[in-house]
Amino acid sequence: MIFLTGDTHGLLEIGRLGAANFPSGERLTRSDAVVILGDFGLLWNDPPRGEERLALGRLEESPWTTLFVDGNHENFSMLHALPEEERFGAPVGVVSPNVLHLRRGYVYTIGGKRCFVFGGARSVDRKSRTPGKSWWPEEIPSAEEYRRGLDSLEACGWSVDWILTHTAPNHILHALDLHKYLAGDPVSAYLDEIHREIAYEKWFCGHLHRNRCFPNDRIHVLRENIVNGDTEEVVSVERDRPPLRERIRSFARLRPLEGD
Ligand SMILES: [Fe+2]
Repeated sequence: MIFLTGDTHGLLEIGRLGAANFPSGERLTRSDAVVILGDFGLLWNDPPRGEERLALGRLEESPWTTLFVDGNHENFSMLHALPEEERFGAPVGVVSPNVLHLRRGYVYTIGGKRCFVFGGARSVDRKSRTPGKSWWPEEIPSAEEYRRGLDSLEACGWSVDWILTHTAPNHILHALDLHKYLAGDPVSAYLDEIHREIAYEKWFCGHLHRNRCFPNDRIHVLRENIVNGDTEEVVSVERDRPPLRERIRSFARLRPLEGD
């Protein structure tokens, strides 16, 4: 079985995969996978801090295999320095034997599903971050990664089972009314082109901090929900939180404003 969830943002939200929130995880085995759709964020401080090491150790000890697509908030120097080995039919970065980075532009066969993977996105907050400390230009794919993606799709006749990405194609940003914040992201433009050409069964992505399904496109945007990829059932205890802006608005409504 393959389970998927949205951004974990390192120590902030990796607890989502704990038994209290993900009880069905306890019954999984190493042949099952949990896929984090970018902004994994646990390889952040180099070398990792104590709590990060503990969290990575807990993931390694989990009954399943953890796979992650890279997002935009990642330490790409650390991701690129990982030892690489062939798993699921293509190269992965090895954090530890059961915690693996799925690289951009490859087609992996995971649990019998041919999955095209393409991470990365442009950070809207990049101007407030420090290059090499809290932001890395490699969030935007290289020409080689873009080309690899097209070559991999060519090799499989532009037909896969699932697509796993961090951000979504542009038309999904519009549908969620997020295009004004995320306009001009070259990764979304690339994914739009791919979306026009490719045959696929399901597409899963993160980045947009929403849980939404677009049935016509079979695109699942995930945030805190953990879903069973086959059945599309949400299995996490915490689910469907409203977007942050709505939560702040409703909080503000509860408190009298100045002058009220
Ligand atoms: Fe994120």
